[in-house]
Amino acid sequence: MKVLIIGSGGREHAIAWSVSKSKRVDKIYCAPGNGGIAEIAECVNISAMEFNKLADFAQENNIDLTIIGMDDPLVGGIVDVFEERGLRVFGPRKNAAIIEGSKKFSKDLMKKYDIPTCNYETFNSPEEALLYLENANFPIVLKADGLALGKGVLICNNLQEAEAGVATIMLDRQFGEAGDTIVIEDFMTGREASVLCFCDGTNIKPMTSAQDHKRAKDGDEGLNTGGMGTFSPSPFYTDEIKKFCEEKIYKPTMDAMKAEGRDFVGILFVGLMMTEEGPRVLEYNARFGDPEAQVVLPRMKNDIIDVIDACIDGKLDEIELEFEDNAAVCVILASAGYPEHYDKGKLIKGLENFKGKDGYYVFHAGTKKTDEGIVTNGGRVLGITAKGSDLKEARKNAYEAVSWVDFENKYMRNDIGKAIDDIK
Ligand code: GLY
Repeated sequence: MKVLIIGSGGREHAIAWSVSKSKRVDKIYCAPGNGGIAEIAECVNISAMEFNKLADFAQENNIDLTIIGMDDPLVGGIVDVFEERGLRVFGPRKNAAIIEGSKKFSKDLMKKYDIPTCNYETFNSPEEALLYLENANFPIVLKADGLALGKGVLICNNLQEAEAGVATIMLDRQFGEAGDTIVIEDFMTGREASVLCFCDGTNIKPMTSAQDHKRAKDGDEGLNTGGMGTFSPSPFYTDEIKKFCEEKIYKPTMDAMKAEGRDFVGILFVGLMMTEEGPRVLEYNARFGDPEAQVVLPRMKNDIIDVIDACIDGKLDEIELEFEDNAAVCVILASAGYPEHYDKGKLIKGLENFKGKDGYYVFHAGTKKTDEGIVTNGGRVLGITAKGSDLKEARKNAYEAVSWVDFENKYMRNDIGKAIDDIK
């Protein structure tokens, strides 16, 4: 069969790699793709937001299945466009992707259906938000309602920071329309975990857990990024916590979406905070995490196409998800200056070192193929993933492998997986 993947990041490279292992797949296309995806798929020069052009391409090339990797096209309704044309596509429709597209929607959903999360208020005007903040407890969290490349979340330690945050989101409109509405919520403490779940509208099956590192600098300092590294599984996501989440969060979320007439088919990413009072939902996303996919998919034993087919056909109950009994760590190699200003076009050396190395992966994010070779083309450039028999070995292997590639202005965090050292 022929598969088209929509997106251009490390997540889409990990999806393409997983699809390439399926015996059922003869040909992979990726739109628009990147320099690394081009090694296993034919990259198509159509942007992820050109829904009709992408659907034309799928029709003209007899694509059997399209997998949407990115949030923007999902929230914009790409799945609806493909379905209207009778094309087989994997991802939530627009009316379900809103679970990621609007923080207000997701918080209201959790409140209505009693799904554990923290207290919050939403405001459409900066004046009302500022009035509320005058009597708030700090730290407090400000979130732009809409999509903001993972950067629309501000943690404010005092009233002054919160006032500046409201101005950033609602007056300076740093995140554009995403900041028309603001969600102000309690600050939660605990360990975070990301759990990606396959969903068929009725059934939901969680994959193995992971933990991201969102801040740019060591010690969780610096600005929020799309994610600087991950490990899987999270040793803090115990069987007891998993059971609680299955009963109180995952299934109730599926049921809530169904009850609202918004059946969710695709990947539901549940961002959890494991607080002293128990697990709470931090956020939902409507797609694989990036760089969570880069540590979860290499550990998955199932043929991804079988699982996706089961989701689309409403037969996920017939699938048993299986993961290897090992661990994986991903370290992101970024361009110095990310997530603010950084240079592009730097030649990447050493990519060939990953050829034939079992358990080591180089997933491309911001890269481009040129006549000179593969060059940097974004803030997050490569995700270096390594597996190991346990988390410590996987981390050692990943940090060894980051030295196999080099480019001018290469930047990484040196403490990905530091939480692993807290394991008793
Ligand atoms: N790594 C966080 C995300 O994918 O949103």
